[in-house]
Amino acid sequence: MWDHGKFERNSILLIAGILFVVSIGGLIEIAPLFYLENTIEKVQGVRPYSPLELAGRNIYIREGCYNCHSQMIRPLRDEVERYGHYSLAAESMYDHPFQWGSKRSGPDLARVGGKYSDEWQRDHLMDPRSVVPESVMPPYRFLAEHELKTRDVQALLEANRATGVPYTDDMIANAEADLLAQANPESEGAEAVAARYPKALVRDFDGDPTKLTEMDALIAYLQMLGTLVDFSTFDANSKDNIR
Ligand code: HEC
Repeated sequence: MWDHGKFERNSILLIAGILFVVSIGGLIEIAPLFYLENTIEKVQGVRPYSPLELAGRNIYIREGCYNCHSQMIRPLRDEVERYGHYSLAAESMYDHPFQWGSKRSGPDLARVGGKYSDEWQRDHLMDPRSVVPESVMPPYRFLAEHELKTRDVQALLEANRATGVPYTDDMIANAEADLLAQANPESEGAEAVAARYPKALVRDFDGDPTKLTEMDALIAYLQMLGTLVDFSTFDANSKDNIR
């Protein structure tokens, strides 16, 4: 139909032609995304991190745990049989940045919450080889000695809100109190934190009630991973799960 020879003999014309054709496909794929409010379907149970979990998540990032651990169970049979239900997009919708990772020197951690006791987690972080003799994971003993810095947790929640995490004014105003209360089940605020963050585990995570350490925060984070969605009733094809 067209004089194709012209395109084949003139490289500039050929490049312009290629760009024109590729841009049609690109526009068809990209343009609708500008009109969608959200590409992630919300799933019942998924909520923003509590202040203590969020502080633990920061330690996870600071220590580079993601260099050896992924948090992304792919929908492949061997992964689902080993780790549990494949990861849903909604489960990391409040992660900035997400911790999917790309390397597995150790196991995937997306559903490690509740798999072990707090004591196991503490012993394992203090000295991995005391519970898994063949482990090559480094020890993180210092986390049990470092007191957790709490004064910037309110700013941390605010920063997350600026990126779209739906923290309420109430959550931000009580950020520091909630952080302290979650690691202290005897405290007055213990009930309030569980009400603001459904399914939040309220307990002394590191086994040392005298002080609040980075170990408390990291274990609080590990113990909630993958526990928010109830997969016994979840059906990916049903709209009832969606909020
Ligand atoms: C050098 C690589 C490496 C780094 C860094 C690392 N891990 Fe590990 N991790 C491993 C390996 C290997 C295993 C499997 C053996 C074991 O259980 O110790 C493991 C196991 C685990 C497990 C048990 C998982 C399961 O399902 O049995 C948890 C929890 C864990 N790591 C958390 C962490 C956290 C938190 C950090 C950061 C503070 C971290 N790891 C850093 C290599 C690593």
